[in-house]
Amino acid sequence: MLNTSYPLTDHTYDVIVVGAGGAGLRAAVGMAESGFRTACISKVFPTRSHTVAAQGGISAALGNMGEDDWRWHMYDTVKGSDWLGDQDAIEYLCANAPEVVIELEHFGVPFSRTDDGKIYQRAFGGMSTHFGKGQAKRTCAAADRTGHAILHALYQQSLKHSVEFFIEYFALDLIMDAEGVCVGVMAWCLEDGSVHRFHAHRVVLATGGYGRAFFSCTSAHICTGDGNGMAARAGLPLQDMEFVQFHPTGVYGAGVLITEGARGEGGYLVNDGGERFMERYAPNAKDLASRDIVSRAMTIEIREGRGVGPEKDHLFLHLDHLEAQLLHERLPGISESAMIFSGVDVTREPIPVLPTVHYNMGGIPSNYRAEALRPTPDNPDAIVPGLMAIGECASASVHGANRLGSNALLDLIVFGKSAAIHVAQDITPGAPIRPLPPMAGESAIDRLDRFRYAKGSIKTSELRLRMQRIMQTNCSVFRTGEVLNEGVKLIHEVWNDLDQLSVSDRSMIWNSDLMETLELHNLVQQAIITMYAAQNRRESRGGHYREDYKERDDKNWMKHTLAWIDTKGKVTIGYRPVHTHTLTNQVNYIEPQARIY
Ligand code: FUM
Repeated sequence: MLNTSYPLTDHTYDVIVVGAGGAGLRAAVGMAESGFRTACISKVFPTRSHTVAAQGGISAALGNMGEDDWRWHMYDTVKGSDWLGDQDAIEYLCANAPEVVIELEHFGVPFSRTDDGKIYQRAFGGMSTHFGKGQAKRTCAAADRTGHAILHALYQQSLKHSVEFFIEYFALDLIMDAEGVCVGVMAWCLEDGSVHRFHAHRVVLATGGYGRAFFSCTSAHICTGDGNGMAARAGLPLQDMEFVQFHPTGVYGAGVLITEGARGEGGYLVNDGGERFMERYAPNAKDLASRDIVSRAMTIEIREGRGVGPEKDHLFLHLDHLEAQLLHERLPGISESAMIFSGVDVTREPIPVLPTVHYNMGGIPSNYRAEALRPTPDNPDAIVPGLMAIGECASASVHGANRLGSNALLDLIVFGKSAAIHVAQDITPGAPIRPLPPMAGESAIDRLDRFRYAKGSIKTSELRLRMQRIMQTNCSVFRTGEVLNEGVKLIHEVWNDLDQLSVSDRSMIWNSDLMETLELHNLVQQAIITMYAAQNRRESRGGHYREDYKERDDKNWMKHTLAWIDTKGKVTIGYRPVHTHTLTNQVNYIEPQARIY
């Protein structure tokens, strides 16, 4: 019996989904459709989840705007991943893309339309036809508010299927039993301060990325990687955390996203001489090269003195040559953002932009069935019974070392649906659930108390800012051993200072200070792992570029990094082989090649 001073409520469901973004809602809809009693816990109202901010679209080889084939999509995704992606999972992603997008259409997503009424598709970076030869138009768009459209449609579907929501509940920790099976999750109700213990056959983590570990990011304030933090505290490894994506076009000074769809519609980048510099770095794809390549090219332009503005510290994105009607119809959201965040009228002036942290390729290792993994030397694909991970918190690994734009929304929907399909194969609604272990939830309560009563002298906001600046400076687009070594030391000091935090509000009701402190704890765990993993990987691949190891090294490094963190902040590194097999005989393993755009 758990002895706690907090009011405690027990709940039992077949499935608990943590997170109500695109992945969480798609999973919840599928589970409920299959007859599972499904609860969805979210720290924000579902339609405020970060999926709402996704702009440019969702990829699927529908071929509405020119020929296309999911095998080309698979080739592009493997190449985009710089051969770190698991090819079975990538095959699953791309082969299932057309079906899940049509399902979204039937769910009510108001996609933009072609003249003949089909779903409108635009060009995105790294998306080709004929295995790298032409430019594909593969990204299905609802103007530049695709995530918003999808999230709202999925929320409506989840209500239709009677998913039970626990809104503004903050997930604290997983409940693992003595055999390492996940049997539930603990959560704090922000509204009334009560603590809740959820017991289920399956816990599905769909908690998003941890962009807020960095100073400048396109991620919402809620993107604190809470699921990754919970998994790490449950003794599970995180995978490939050194791979952090910088989106080429964040608004200078604000970090707000300007969709890659802007370049897909014909926008282009220039330096201070007005030069379209991407022609030098990617002669074929130019501004639509893969994100890691465009972000590095931009950083080089700035470093070599060709940036724009008084400090020569950013670049310009031109859309002013495009028809005003096109901007109005296809890019209304970013036209508004450019005006609000940089005072720019996109029909007349270029937008000041800078590469900005946007996405975490790494996360909880998982497979195409959406099961979380606990790799061992004997079985690198061993699963964690009872636990699933989907969306940005997972590393399936479909994005490997670098994600292609518009593959994130696809990942959410394909693997959200996959989680539901595979749970329905494995369990029956209403079947008896493994018992909770004695004292289930005790460690979550101890952690809550540790931070609720923190009596040190450092404010959470101060420590968070320190962490964000260290990550931005020491774990950036370009990395060196020296800078990373310093980063490891500095980020450890941040870890140690978690013990010096002061939380002044002791209340449990709407205590944002306490919640931000718990989020900071999650962020610091991930920041340390990211820095260590980047220090450890001595090669350049995708989003991880080491100036002291400039080449990709397939012989020694074509493997996933695994990293465990203990209660003292000590990180242990291991590895897992990349999957080189495919699921069906419709495709063969795509051999590594030089990655040229
Ligand atoms: O640029 C964008 O619209 C972002 C899309 C993505 O990250 O997939």
